[in-house]
Amino acid sequence: MARRKRRLSQAALADRYELYQRAVQNPELEVALLEQFYREAFGARARPRTLREDFCGTAWLAATWSASHPRRRAWGVDLDPEPLEWGRVHNLPRLGPSVMRRVTLLQGDVRQVETPGADIVCALNFSFCALQRRSALLDYFRHARNQLAPRGLLVLDLLGGTATWDVAEDVREVDDSGIFYYWEQAEFDVLSHHMLAHIHFEFPDGSRLEQAFSYHWRLWTLPELRDLLHEAGFAEVRFYNEVFEEGEDEEYLSPTGRYQRVERMENQEAWVVYIVALNARGGE
Ligand SMILES: C[S@@+](CC[C@H](N)C(=O)[O-])C[C@H]1O[C@@H](n2cnc3c(N)ncnc32)[C@H](O)[C@@H]1O
Repeated sequence: MARRKRRLSQAALADRYELYQRAVQNPELEVALLEQFYREAFGARARPRTLREDFCGTAWLAATWSASHPRRRAWGVDLDPEPLEWGRVHNLPRLGPSVMRRVTLLQGDVRQVETPGADIVCALNFSFCALQRRSALLDYFRHARNQLAPRGLLVLDLLGGTATWDVAEDVREVDDSGIFYYWEQAEFDVLSHHMLAHIHFEFPDGSRLEQAFSYHWRLWTLPELRDLLHEAGFAEVRFYNEVFEEGEDEEYLSPTGRYQRVERMENQEAWVVYIVALNARGGE
C-alpha cells in the first residue's frame, strides 16, 4: 500500500533570509537616504560612488547600491559565511554580471577587514549594537574611519524610545502575504542596556518559524555614540529623525520614510534615528 506523503508546513519550507529581506529591509530607500546624507554633507553636486556595507548579512544593500549606477561599487563585510553565501547565490546573480563584478563580499570581523577608501561606510539595522563593550565599539569606529575616503561618511541607525527599553512584542504583516513578522524584545537590562531580541514568523497555515534570528545587543544611546564617534576622530556628527505627517486618521501621525536633520528631539515610544559621522568637516 502506497504511503501518504506528509506535507511539510510553510514554516518548514520557508527561507529565513528571504523572509528577513522582505520583512525588514528596503534597500532602495536606504540608497536614497545615503545619497541625501552625502549631498547634505558635501554639497548638492557631490556624488558618492563607493559603499562599504559592514555587518552586511546577505549584502542586499551593497548589491542594490552597485545596481543603482554603472560607476558604483560596493564591499560587504560580515563574520558569518552563511548569509554571505546566500547573498552570492540569490542577490547578486539577479542583478547581472556587470553588477556582480562591482560587489565584493568579504568574510571577517568589521574591525579587521581592510577595504579601499570608500565614500560611505554604513552599519545599518542597528547591527553595530552587537559590539557591547565601549572599547570594542570605539575600535570599530576608528577602523571604519580608516576605511573611508578623506571626504567620507559613516552612517549608522539606532533604535530607541521608551517602548524599546523594555520587554515587548510587535507584530505586523509582511506585504499582504498572510505571513506575520514578530519582533520580540525578550530581555532588557536597564543597568547594561543589554537586549535579547528575536525575530519570529507565522504563516497562513498556522505554522511558526520561532527565533528565525536572535540578537544580543547593547542598546547604545545617541549621546554615547556621538562622544565615541568624536573620540574616534570624526569631525562632525549629525542626527536625522523621520518626518511624520497627519494621515487619514487625524489622531495618528504616519511615518513618511523621509528623514531630516535635527538638533533636538523629543522622546517617543519608539524611534529610529540615523547617525551620520563626517570624516572631514562638511561644506553645507
Ligand atoms: C542584523 S544582521 C544585519 C543585516 C543587514 N546589515 C541589514 O541591514 O539588515 C547582523 C549581522 O552582523 C554580523 N556580525 C555581527 N558581529 C560582527 C562583526 N564583529 N563583524 C562582522 N559581522 C558581524 C552577523 O553575522 C549578522 O549577519
